[in-house]
Amino acid sequence: MLRPMDEVPTPIRRVIQAEAIAWLAENPPDPGASVITSMPDVSELGGHDLAAWRTWFLGAARAVLAWVPDPGVAIFFQSDVRHGGAWVDKGYLVLRAAEDVGAHLVWHKIVCRHPPGTISLGRPSYSHMICLSRVPRSSGRRPGPDVLADAGAMTWSRAMGLTACRVACRFLREETATRVVVDPFCGRGTVLAVANAMGFDAVGVDLSPKRCRAARSLVIGDPEKVALPA
Ligand SMILES: C[S@@+](CC[C@H](N)C(=O)[O-])C[C@H]1O[C@@H](n2cnc3c(N)ncnc32)[C@H](O)[C@@H]1O
Repeated sequence: MLRPMDEVPTPIRRVIQAEAIAWLAENPPDPGASVITSMPDVSELGGHDLAAWRTWFLGAARAVLAWVPDPGVAIFFQSDVRHGGAWVDKGYLVLRAAEDVGAHLVWHKIVCRHPPGTISLGRPSYSHMICLSRVPRSSGRRPGPDVLADAGAMTWSRAMGLTACRVACRFLREETATRVVVDPFCGRGTVLAVANAMGFDAVGVDLSPKRCRAARSLVIGDPEKVALPA
């Protein structure tokens, strides 16, 4: 039964300034939680060389996957980089962490950062969006597009595009019983703001006090108006 609008609770947002892996270890998940996140690049982890970052990244992805409750999923949005002449494939690293902990691949989408056909000498022109579950799941009634031609508008340079956020949240809404979206590396809060706008409670964690402040106040008007791929 539909409830009158004034009885529909306003989604909650909680942003905690903390180290993500320690926070996950100390805070067991709500059974209605799923994760949507973008873990930091080697350029964001001061003092780590590529090998140390890679070890950290694999451990962090395993910690996120171990934390997510069985009914939920973890969705990683990661962009590859070229570093010292080598291509660092973060999709591979996420899937490798998943294999380490026995998590199951639900889907793997390619999100274009630039139009297909663009030659990019810097960062590769697409991102990975990978959905994993600790338990096997059906592929879903409406799994959505495998390739997103555009990630959508970005609220800052390291943000997950708004269209990608909305595709991820729509999957949670249509295919899972998720009530709370958790982003343990929430940056300025793009995922949290889209999740709230789509009716989910949201919890964000970030090391940076400044980004936490921004994440508490970011409002994304109406994500339903963000154009979605067919
Ligand atoms: C790629 S950005 C996240 C962007 C975010 N999804 C958005 O759309 O705004 C990664 C974030 O991880 C944060 N970070 C790095 N190491 C961290 C750690 N150990 N614990 C928590 N946050 C961390 C950084 O401050 C940065 O804001």
